[in-house]
Amino acid sequence: MLAVVGFALLVSWIIASIHRNHSSSLKDIPNAHFSAPYTRLWLLSLRWRNMEHRSRIHLHRRLGPVIRIGPRDVSVNCIDDGVRTIYSSKFDKDASFYHELFDQTGFMVTMTGNEEHRERKRMLTRPYSNSYILNSQILDSVLSRVACRLREEIAGWASKGTSVDVYQQAKCCTLDVASGWLFGSENATDTLRDPGFENDLTTLASAASKIFCVRTSLDWPMTYFASWIGNKLPDPEITGRWQAWLTRVITDSYRRHSTKSSSILSLYDHFYDSFKAANPDMSRNEMASFIAVECDDHLSASHLGLGTLLSYTMYELSRDPDCQRALRKELLTLAEPSDRSLVHRLADLPVLDAVVTETMRTRAPCPGPFPRVVPDSGCRLAGKFDVPGGTIVSSSAWALHFNPVPFPSPEEWRPGRWLEADENTVAEMRKWIWTFGSGARVCIGTHYSMRVIKELLATVYTNYQTSLDDEFTGNVEQQDAFSAGPLAGCLKLRFRRPIARPLLKQP
Ligand code: HEM
Ligand SMILES: *[C@@H]1O[C@H](CO)[C@@H](O)[C@H](O)[C@H]1NC(C)=O
Ligand SMILES: *[C@@H]1O[C@H](CO)[C@@H](O)[C@H](O)[C@H]1NC(C)=O
Repeated sequence: MLAVVGFALLVSWIIASIHRNHSSSLKDIPNAHFSAPYTRLWLLSLRWRNMEHRSRIHLHRRLGPVIRIGPRDVSVNCIDDGVRTIYSSKFDKDASFYHELFDQTGFMVTMTGNEEHRERKRMLTRPYSNSYILNSQILDSVLSRVACRLREEIAGWASKGTSVDVYQQAKCCTLDVASGWLFGSENATDTLRDPGFENDLTTLASAASKIFCVRTSLDWPMTYFASWIGNKLPDPEITGRWQAWLTRVITDSYRRHSTKSSSILSLYDHFYDSFKAANPDMSRNEMASFIAVECDDHLSASHLGLGTLLSYTMYELSRDPDCQRALRKELLTLAEPSDRSLVHRLADLPVLDAVVTETMRTRAPCPGPFPRVVPDSGCRLAGKFDVPGGTIVSSSAWALHFNPVPFPSPEEWRPGRWLEADENTVAEMRKWIWTFGSGARVCIGTHYSMRVIKELLATVYTNYQTSLDDEFTGNVEQQDAFSAGPLAGCLKLRFRRPIARPLLKQP
């Protein structure tokens, strides 16, 4: 009896599926998997096994720039008629993804409605603009403090020949810089000297469990059942410590806010002023909690995202001594007198820029996906696929960055490709760099990130040399996840002072 009912259900499911396949206007798009038109289970299994982005790279190479990865899910891997269209302001973020991805909502990244987002963006844009970042006195003082601490640490590592986990140290640097930028030097963390707090944050970030794969791939009621099983909660003690610190710095920043002169305003001060102007009647506590959630996000983006990028740049430089020498030679030119500020000159160094850009390409810390909803009017992708409203479209930074057409031998880390190519080719390649997303919801931390990473790299490579640690055998590849740190959880290098090479004597 049960078998008959089961069989009947199976047959009706197959008929319904075939009907759905043939009536969907997505049917002309190549399927990434035979089951993709019927169910998201295949997508879920990719996410569960941490294979989503590596699979997208290969599937797009095989099947072209637009592929169907779920019943109403499409992956897009071209810029014109693709990324440019779906990441415009007409396409909203997919709420069912973004609201499941983070434990808390209410900060800019998770805002899905246009109105709400526009207002928040207006409040935050100015201090993150390039000119503000390059001229900020707060960043000057925070960066010179962190650079000074870092030099002390490196001197110790170099003299002892220690094997150093640069992933951890880079996260300490980028956390110390971000906390100073957000709350002022007095309230910056000092995790380079006292790493306990950095460990806490890393532990919290990795507590985000497999449950997110389920919650971001399936719809209610499956997500509801999923929350019953295996939801690994972050350690309450660590969460408590972290929240207590955040509450304390925000309270202290509030107290000092009115006494500050305009040249030393922290991000908190800017944010408070614009938040207060937009919501004059909001209570102090309510406002503090809005600000805390936003600040929490900026801190973790700098800590994890920028820390990952910085440490992989050092790792790649350690594998390529020639490139490291060229970089040092370029950095030494900064000692020559000039009428431009050091910060502006550092922003324009070609080798340094090529090294960072090439790492942004091969080691994007945040591959995606960043799903958007096609508006009711529909859209056309790659010049030939008409996609109806309601379809979920997304791109993956890795799939774009490993496209062999703009980037021949895409797996190779070769900064030279940015230095040797002619202007038009470089402009074409730049179009494909998607480390920080693009369009209406592009990362607001881009200029901040570029200034911070370049100054920290200059601090290291002006006076020191890094090399691989032969005893380190951990897996250096990235996690295939929304936040993609090294699989080993660390990247080990050694530091030493560069030695002038002795002249070779000809026999
Ligand atoms: C290397 C480090 C970083 C990477 C790889 C990165 C990457 C990204 C990406 C890909 C997006 C687009 C997300 C989407 O479309 O859903 C984004 C958005 C955003 N990022 Fe970053 N980010 C980094 C650092 C930062 C930093 C330091 C901040 C601190 C201010 C920051 C703040 C934001 C915010 C607020 C958004 C949302 C923008 C909006 O919705 O309008 N990011 N980031
Ligand atoms: C779904 O439709 C497409 C286009 O009509 C067809 O090529 C494909 O084989 C169909 N898939 C199944 C499993 O029926
Ligand atoms: C922030 O800085 C002020 C001024 O130096 C200090 O009194 C306060 O204890 C600091 N707060 C935290 C949480 O570090």
